[in-house]
Amino acid sequence: MGNPNPQIAIVTDDPGWHGEQLTTALSRHGLNSRYLSLTECQLMFDDSDQWVRLPGFEQKLPLGIFVRGVPGGTLEQVIFRLDVLHVLVDLGVVVYNSPRAIERTVDKAMTSFLLKQSGLPTPSTWIFESPEQARMICQQEFDKGHRLVLKPLFGSQGIGIHLIDSNSGLIHDEKFAGLYYLQSFVERGGTDWFDIRVFVIDGKAQSAMLRRGISWITNRARGARCEPLPLDTRLCELAESAARAVNADYAGVDLIPDAAGQLQVIEVNGVPAWWGLQSVTEFNIATKLIDHFVRRIGETHALTVQS
Ligand SMILES: Nc1ncnc2c1ncn2[C@@H]1O[C@H](COP(=O)(O)OP(=O)(O)O)[C@@H](O)[C@H]1O
Ligand SMILES: [Mg+2]
Repeated sequence: MGNPNPQIAIVTDDPGWHGEQLTTALSRHGLNSRYLSLTECQLMFDDSDQWVRLPGFEQKLPLGIFVRGVPGGTLEQVIFRLDVLHVLVDLGVVVYNSPRAIERTVDKAMTSFLLKQSGLPTPSTWIFESPEQARMICQQEFDKGHRLVLKPLFGSQGIGIHLIDSNSGLIHDEKFAGLYYLQSFVERGGTDWFDIRVFVIDGKAQSAMLRRGISWITNRARGARCEPLPLDTRLCELAESAARAVNADYAGVDLIPDAAGQLQVIEVNGVPAWWGLQSVTEFNIATKLIDHFVRRIGETHALTVQS
């Protein structure tokens, strides 16, 4: 913070450990950075020639923006914040991940579509507004002995997701905002609750971990422990294809092996945290991310930067 003439914006409302890691990695390339909240950005389409105003970048727009967090808000506020990022891309700023990739990964329905379209193994998923339709799908799946997961469309960290079966029936929750995102529950083979997180940067799977949970929701934020997991060909193939499907510069891909041992892609995270993964990874993840980000800036701006 407070750097003179910052060239890079790190978009976040909560810099913390990730902010420090990114700032340090950027400074190794001789790049000054500044934290920026999307809530402070302004669009001004008037007689001035400065259409986007970003605090700290009054003299010159940044060369690149690393998006570490998009704060929640009203639908209008969130759309506006993504508008700002889209405008910046159009004005030649490298936004990492791109707003398009962020939109595709924040929206679980769009992610599910892109995974299916790419032919990747992912659980059956149904999305609609009608509670009657939701009850019908529940009946159809419960009759087959399947359980279902009900998720908020824009959820993260395992918050607000429910496991439903013929005993519980369909659950109604205002947080679902009038939309049902229902997904086949992937029954794991053993008795352990775990899933796999693979981190992909620049199209290559870099590192993986097993998240061992205390319940079927195995997010780190829900108490799961991180264990190192060696990458194998299948994991790399699936995670890299999933990141490609949403066109992400980098991504955290969640996978679960089903009872038959087939890996299912559950989620692609376009703004993934890596604190837990770093604790089981030998190289510095922020360095890898920033090396790629800086390469992207170099390609876009034909800029000479220290490597
Ligand atoms: N279809 C599913 N079958 C089994 N477990 C699931 C399924 N979907 C999600 N989970 C569990 O819930 C966790 C959170 O779900 P996810 O779709 O990744 O949403 P979030 O964005 O909240 O992380 C996953 O890491 C996994 O442990
Ligand atoms: Mg997840």
